[in-house]
Amino acid sequence: MQPTSPLDDLLAGLPTHRRQLFEARLERWLPDLEAALVPLYADPAEVRDRLVRLAAAAFAARSEELHALDLRRSLAPDWFQRPEMIGYAAYADRFAGDLAGVADRAGYLEDLGVRYLHLMPLLTPRPAPNDGGYAVQDHRSVRPDLGTIEDLRALTGVLRARGISLCLDLVLNHVAREHEWARKAQAGDPTYRDYFLVFPDRSLPDAYERTLPEVFPDFAPGSFTWDDDVEGWVWTTFNHYQWDVNWANPDVLLEYAETILSLANDGVEVFRLDAIAFTWKRMGTDCQNQPEVHALTQALRTVSRIAAPATVFKAEAIVGPQDLLAYLGQGERHGKVSDLAYHNSLMVHVWSMLASRDATLAARALQRLATPPSTTAWVTYARCHDDIGWAIDDADAARAGVSGFGHRAFLSDFYTGAFPGSWGRGLVFQENPATGDRRISGTLASLAGLEAGDPWAPARIQLAHAIVLGFGGLPVLWMGDELGLLNDPGWASEPGHADDSRWAHRPRMPWPTPEDTHGINAGLRTLVAARRDLPHLHASTPAQVLDPRDRAVLLIARRHPLGAMLGAYNVSDHPAHVPHQVLHDLGLVPGHVMDRITGEAPESRDDAVQLPVYGAVWLTSTT
Ligand code: GLC
Repeated sequence: MQPTSPLDDLLAGLPTHRRQLFEARLERWLPDLEAALVPLYADPAEVRDRLVRLAAAAFAARSEELHALDLRRSLAPDWFQRPEMIGYAAYADRFAGDLAGVADRAGYLEDLGVRYLHLMPLLTPRPAPNDGGYAVQDHRSVRPDLGTIEDLRALTGVLRARGISLCLDLVLNHVAREHEWARKAQAGDPTYRDYFLVFPDRSLPDAYERTLPEVFPDFAPGSFTWDDDVEGWVWTTFNHYQWDVNWANPDVLLEYAETILSLANDGVEVFRLDAIAFTWKRMGTDCQNQPEVHALTQALRTVSRIAAPATVFKAEAIVGPQDLLAYLGQGERHGKVSDLAYHNSLMVHVWSMLASRDATLAARALQRLATPPSTTAWVTYARCHDDIGWAIDDADAARAGVSGFGHRAFLSDFYTGAFPGSWGRGLVFQENPATGDRRISGTLASLAGLEAGDPWAPARIQLAHAIVLGFGGLPVLWMGDELGLLNDPGWASEPGHADDSRWAHRPRMPWPTPEDTHGINAGLRTLVAARRDLPHLHASTPAQVLDPRDRAVLLIARRHPLGAMLGAYNVSDHPAHVPHQVLHDLGLVPGHVMDRITGEAPESRDDAVQLPVYGAVWLTSTT
């Protein structure tokens, strides 16, 4: 490709060292940008030049404080992989009213040990229903009841001063049908019609639908919606009011790049790439995980690296294990796409283990997942704002001696409380009669038995947190789970929420926070403190799931240069054990290990470490 066009008009006002910095970054990253664009667009050089101009303009406009952050992050590119990182996710309004309220509560988060805050979509959405803000109407403004862009900037400043990075959603797959682009398309502007995927009749939609899965089979069946204004079938993977954008159009890439750079200059440090798997469509496929998705990510990531390297990307790819690793960069995209990705499989298996009181299936499934690149990290979590879909692979289930279909049905029965003796109190989300799938909504505490009054619920919550914080990666807590909040009994009465049971597990934060009667908060804080002092939990060290010796115990080894760490988790309601041989195999000496959660030696007898009901230990050598 030819060199990019001159940027003097954009960079002229900058001091020499700044210009040199920009040039050095271009020299470093331009090859990645070019490589990303070639498979995507007919004229990659033209797209590259437009992107570089955007990057130069954003670089020139970036504040001194954020340039300083860029420098610090360049010197510590592993900042988000460190054991002291703890994440928290919340709706700004449900957490603290508005953005200024969140800033006022920053001390609460810092005190809990939080270093990363994911605030749910806060750019202006269409009026309700808007899928919890995932139907964005305007990328340039903040939802008016939450504040303004200035408030957002002020909030990122307050958080940054406390060492907390703000993560925001970038809803890549769609915009609201009320978005300016869609309105222009509706008004007949062909440029903007090209921002979407619109078909004059059903022939292509029918052909695509032959291989497309249903995302919201219950309240939004099908993937296309007829629109009178554009006189066509619009691709709407999610709800009918969420119009999928056409990423094959380079103008769409440019628009999103501009949004990223502008939010990065407002102080946003992590971008959550919402529903990223769906962004590229291909006939005859399920239109997820297409190779172009990763090229698009690489293009956006590279542009942000040039203008705002303090930022990182998090992929929201709730996809099968065979497709997941590509989001963290495999092959030629190694180190060039997202830095973080949700470990959906771990989350699902935490619940599967607790219901079945057996770690065998989880171990089989987790062992099959390839190791992520050492510069990336899993986002680990017990649950999030979304439902839990039972992503249990049939082949994994067969290897563990159970039927995939049967186990998924069992989990749905269990977590809705229908299974005899169950303590789970979740709700069904999106029952799909065609596949038999029933996804589940519920807070951590309600799913773990607190709502049912089960005496073991606090221990189960602590165990789930121990797994999530002890796996390695960036653990993210959902607002209120640190207090054991139950499902919101009034969830369905709010306008637009009645058919979406996910609102049950998005309760409002009670201030002042309730007494920690069950010790849930204290238990979590113990784990946060222990984690901070455990270099073994740096995400560059991979987690290795060992074969269970006792079916009830999940074993996770982390082989760090400082020595091994063994996490052992009893997922059952009876005492269990870890044979000393497991420790020996890792180079740990049974008499010389410490449980880093309690700071004491674990209970050892009969050549085994003993684990109480729902017990967890993080063992390292004392020497
Ligand atoms: C993601 C979000 C989910 C939303 C969907 C559509 O999966 O997590 O809440 O419904 O994208 O934007």
